[in-house]
Amino acid sequence: MAFELPPLPYAVDDLEPYMSSQTLHLHHGKHHQTYVTNLNNLTRDTPQATISLEDLVKATAGKPEQQGIFNNAGQVYNHNFFWRCMKRCGGGALPAALENKIVEDFGSFEKFKEAFIQAGLTQFGSGWAWLVLDGGKLAVTKTGNADTPLAHGKTPLLVADVWEHAYYVDFQNRRADYLKVFFESLVDWEGVAARLAAA
Ligand code: FE2
Repeated sequence: MAFELPPLPYAVDDLEPYMSSQTLHLHHGKHHQTYVTNLNNLTRDTPQATISLEDLVKATAGKPEQQGIFNNAGQVYNHNFFWRCMKRCGGGALPAALENKIVEDFGSFEKFKEAFIQAGLTQFGSGWAWLVLDGGKLAVTKTGNADTPLAHGKTPLLVADVWEHAYYVDFQNRRADYLKVFFESLVDWEGVAARLAAA
């Protein structure tokens, strides 16, 4: 069965004015779709087309001869995850269990926020900023290009796409402004809390 582009979990203009419908049309409809199309072209009529996306990411990670498949599988996985990290009227107060765990592992919510935004800012070139669960503790990490914590035995809880295609239409080169708006007005904290509870 071919890999598919999941529909957005909200309307294309639901994230306005923080993330424009133009950005979603391009980012989801063109960039994300291209990774899906490439992945299907690379795996067509092979056993790799029949396994789950998660298993394909793990199976191809760190293997130079599988780099092309990993790049596209990782980008499909990361984008599938990214869309589910946001919602209409996102941001705001955190569910208590999530906030308590953040304070326990980072010292304060503000320290976590600073670490997450800093990870996105200091990811040189294209990549991703993450909140993960690693050995029972929350941690902030960043990955380059298509890399993903899934390939490193960590459980992803939240991600910000910091490829330029994620913010250039709305923020031009101002990655810091995009990350602040993402964090304060777009994140679906209930979803993050649900993933933490299920981990
Ligand atoms: Fe992206």
